[in-house]
Amino acid sequence: MAHLLSSSHMGRTFPPTTDGFRPGSPALMALLPKSLHMHTRRAPHKGLIFRRSNAPTRRCTTVYAPPSQEARSGSLRTSSSKPKRVMVIGGDGYCGWATALHLSKKGYEVAIVDSLIRRLFDHQLGLSSLTPIASIHDRLRRWMSLTGKSIQLHIGDVCDFEFLAEAFRSFEPEAVVHFGEQRSAPYSMIDRSRAVFTQQNNVVGTLNVLFAIKEFAEECHLVKLGTMGEYGTPNIDIEEGYITITHNGRTDTLPYPKQASSFYHLSKVHDSNNIAFTCKAWGIRATDLNQGVVYGVRTEETAMHDELSNRLDYDGVFGTALNRFCVQAAVGHPLTVYGKGGQTRGYLDIRDTVQCVELAIANPAKPGEFRVFNQFTEQFSVNDLASLVKKAGAKMGLDVQAISVPNPRVEAEEHYYNAKHTKLIELGLQPHLLSDSLLDSLLNFAIRFRDRVDTAQIMPSVSWKKIGVKPQTVAA
Ligand SMILES: NC(=O)c1ccc[n+]([C@@H]2O[C@H](COP(=O)([O-])OP(=O)(O)OC[C@H]3O[C@@H](n4cnc5c(N)ncnc54)[C@H](O)[C@@H]3O)[C@@H](O)[C@H]2O)c1
Repeated sequence: MAHLLSSSHMGRTFPPTTDGFRPGSPALMALLPKSLHMHTRRAPHKGLIFRRSNAPTRRCTTVYAPPSQEARSGSLRTSSSKPKRVMVIGGDGYCGWATALHLSKKGYEVAIVDSLIRRLFDHQLGLSSLTPIASIHDRLRRWMSLTGKSIQLHIGDVCDFEFLAEAFRSFEPEAVVHFGEQRSAPYSMIDRSRAVFTQQNNVVGTLNVLFAIKEFAEECHLVKLGTMGEYGTPNIDIEEGYITITHNGRTDTLPYPKQASSFYHLSKVHDSNNIAFTCKAWGIRATDLNQGVVYGVRTEETAMHDELSNRLDYDGVFGTALNRFCVQAAVGHPLTVYGKGGQTRGYLDIRDTVQCVELAIANPAKPGEFRVFNQFTEQFSVNDLASLVKKAGAKMGLDVQAISVPNPRVEAEEHYYNAKHTKLIELGLQPHLLSDSLLDSLLNFAIRFRDRVDTAQIMPSVSWKKIGVKPQTVAA
């Protein structure tokens, strides 16, 4: 696909991508350890198993890490209502990695499913995480050596149903947390091929997960990461998934209207519709977590060792607002406020992402229920965030300035915004609210790694209006 082959976009030059770095390609395969001791969960003593799917279009690899002694003996179930085996799709990514470790620490038996395509995007676009991140294999080995807990690893693409089916058959998940999507709005707006890729990857991947649940694990609870961006910015309060409307004298409770504002956000709306339909038609149990913008980098588990570090994106394609601003402040770059800066959204600390997912798993939806939770803890405008970072920077002796840059997106820059977010609180969420100390530690973190910042990646480079059919590939 064109998106896998292009090496640059928006007129900027990026390092060439070797086509050998596709998931399952020889170059990527070479990154896999040659002598991992791998077992299936049901045949722990049969020795090394290393499967390559024969899927014609999307090649993939399945690797099984050995279950720990405790997990095999079933002693990790913490309460009878808690699902024990949780598959974390997208478990090598920003939210997924932190969540996989958190669930493993809490006693769940965890399997990560990931195609590692997020790492490929970095190679394609010449981006890298502010924090150095270890390979998924080194991460898992380090986790095992520190905690004695093993996490299974299945490397492959959930759009390849044969691969996904094998992962389901062998792991038999009781809950699936699905983070495994292309999650950047700007990435989906680079060019036609990235728009098409985003919708194919996300919609087909989620459809495959739904079919896998129906076929192999019908009791399994799907916890799907959606986004608050599905709702857009209506001039009325945003409810949690549903709204009761009286129209021409009749009343009904209907899905809350969706007004997505990028091909990425639209892929999430399509996912939500497909999930809602299969709950109704097949009795699938699902929770759609409409997540706000996540900030922060450390969780209790990822802070245990440098090799467990999470990624922190600061670039104009994958970086999210507060994370970007902290890195900009650390390197003395003016904070890039898009347009008027009145854009208001829900935000949450990554420590709350992992907490919310655990709460959703521990309190599963009923068969046939399509539950929607708005997963964020506080609302801020972009101008609010800029002021907070300026203030925190000043305390540390940093001269932080903010500038308004032309808004590359098509969005309201001043608007009403009031979104409900009570359901996770009712389940027991104890929010980590954005505080001075958190901003200090994020800024300190950014300062610690500021030598790794490529300032050329800071300005927004993808325009919603200029997207075209031509692949954005300028030769190096
Ligand atoms: N980060 C945020 O602020 C934020 C906000 C709202 C919602 N979300 C949602 O949370 C989820 C996770 O976001 P993130 O920031 O961790 O993203 P991320 O890009 O860091 O992680 C996504 C992971 O999924 C994997 N993946 C993608 N497509 C796959 C496929 N077809 N098969 C297997 N693996 C695949 C990637 O390799 C990556 O490791 C996404 O669905 C995103 O839409 C994130």
